[in-house]
Amino acid sequence: MWTYPPDHLDLTLHQVDVWRILLDILPDSVKLSESTLSAEETQRASRFHFDSDKHRFIASHTSLRNILTRYLHCEPGQITFQKNNYGKPFILFDLNLEFNLSHSDDYALIAVTRGCKVGIDVERVREDMALESIASHNFSPGEVSELMALSPEQRISGFFNCWTRKEAYIKAQGLGLSLSLDSFDVSLAPNEPAILRATRPDPNLASRWTLVSLSVDSGYAGALAVEGEGLEFRYWDWNATQ
Ligand SMILES: CC(C)(COP(=O)(O)OP(=O)(O)OC[C@H]1O[C@@H](n2cnc3c(N)ncnc32)[C@H](O)[C@@H]1OP(=O)(O)O)[C@@H](O)C(=O)NCCC(=O)NCCS
Repeated sequence: MWTYPPDHLDLTLHQVDVWRILLDILPDSVKLSESTLSAEETQRASRFHFDSDKHRFIASHTSLRNILTRYLHCEPGQITFQKNNYGKPFILFDLNLEFNLSHSDDYALIAVTRGCKVGIDVERVREDMALESIASHNFSPGEVSELMALSPEQRISGFFNCWTRKEAYIKAQGLGLSLSLDSFDVSLAPNEPAILRATRPDPNLASRWTLVSLSVDSGYAGALAVEGEGLEFRYWDWNATQ
């Protein structure tokens, strides 16, 4: 599913580009990458306790800048990010270009569209979590019932399907947790397609959104939420050191 992109990429209205970045960047290339970051990004990078976390942060943010230059045709350091009231970054320079970033352990994912709200989420799958308790606090009643109806073997992937799909939708809306987690239902059963099943109080929203389950790597779960239908998805690999 994932391939390296051609030198030149055009992004049309119904296309969605999804980028996968392995964040195992070498410490030597970190200094070089750091030079394209903003003062705020550099300051955030300096706050990490462990070098490995700092390196991953730098790799994900320099990759984001480098990937966006492919659409904006500028230098990575020229991109200025703004944030909405809930912290979702956007680019003032080109309001039509929508993007979202997610990172977890060794992977980052970035989604880019023209004019469609987009959210993405990647999570490292952990088997040592109190799934039922976390689900009861964060999932809708319908999602909790569906999760509990799964066999114990299926429950872990059902849980991460639900988590990443909900997170991707929340991130696409860009309203943070002011959008209540039980105001919408997503599908979660393994082998069932990703669907935004219901939205409340406006039931019409559900049919306007496309959810996609992403195969990132073994041990990871990923999901994408895009406002729109009939979309074409392209899956690109990005080398964090380029
Ligand atoms: C802020 C939030 C995006 C954090 O998500 P996360 O899973 O910790 O982090 P991710 O790696 O997926 O995404 C982080 C990136 O999203 C972007 N982002 C930040 N705030 C955002 C927002 N409000 N909306 C969309 N994207 C946002 C940034 O690019 C950020 O990268 P950075 O921190 O390196 O600058 C937010 O969705 C949140 O706090 N969620 C709470 C988690 C939760 O309870 N989820 C329940 C799911 S059932």
